[in-house]
Amino acid sequence: MARSKRIVGLAELCKGYDTVLDIGTDHGLVLKSAFEKGYIKQAIATDLRDMPLQSAKNNLKNYPVNFIISDGFLALREPFDVAIIAGMGAHLINDILDHRPYGTYDLILQANDKVHLLRRYLMDHGLKITDEWVIHDHFYYVIIKATQGVMQLTDDDILVGPMLKTKPEAQAFYHHKLKLIDKIMKTADEVKLEELVRLRQAYNDVIIC
Ligand SMILES: C[S@@+](CC[C@H](N)C(=O)[O-])C[C@H]1O[C@@H](n2cnc3c(N)ncnc32)[C@H](O)[C@@H]1O
Repeated sequence: MARSKRIVGLAELCKGYDTVLDIGTDHGLVLKSAFEKGYIKQAIATDLRDMPLQSAKNNLKNYPVNFIISDGFLALREPFDVAIIAGMGAHLINDILDHRPYGTYDLILQANDKVHLLRRYLMDHGLKITDEWVIHDHFYYVIIKATQGVMQLTDDDILVGPMLKTKPEAQAFYHHKLKLIDKIMKTADEVKLEELVRLRQAYNDVIIC
């Protein structure tokens, strides 16, 4: 099966970790890609539902993976070095993070929407962003790496990304965002327009080319 750039990108970020926990693994393709490339030694694949976990079992049958039905971290007892939570909405990722266990591990997070809500959650819950990337694969996907720690973000950084704004590859993403905003502005009411003007300014401020 062809791997999307998003899946390959998430798998690459597992490099160097011993035990990877993939929450909401679905088909298990992120882990499969990480195993195939030799990036990881073992994994824990969890999903809320049995059907997706069965599909992960089929795709990962030759690898050392512990499969667990779990709502987020709730049924998890095993140690891990990094947790991936990807391909879901920001609200759901934040809900899952509400029940993260105490410990020293990294997080690789990819929200399909409202990435700013995820950044704000991290700041408000003792987590700090250590890196960010954007991958263009039909849509733009922002990936955030985070760990325990304190960070203070400005409102603008919550919108554009404190690390992402330093990346040359983010420029195309910001231009894309500006185009979208300009389109929505044409039909926005007064309240929405005010929000869009602020958003537009935040993206405009980080565009350098
Ligand atoms: C769209 S798929 C994303 C699959 C994969 N993580 C990826 O990025 O390609 C979302 C998966 O998350 C699972 N899921 C939704 N809520 C969950 C929760 N609270 N805990 C664990 N898994 C959940 C769904 O069953 C589904 O298999």
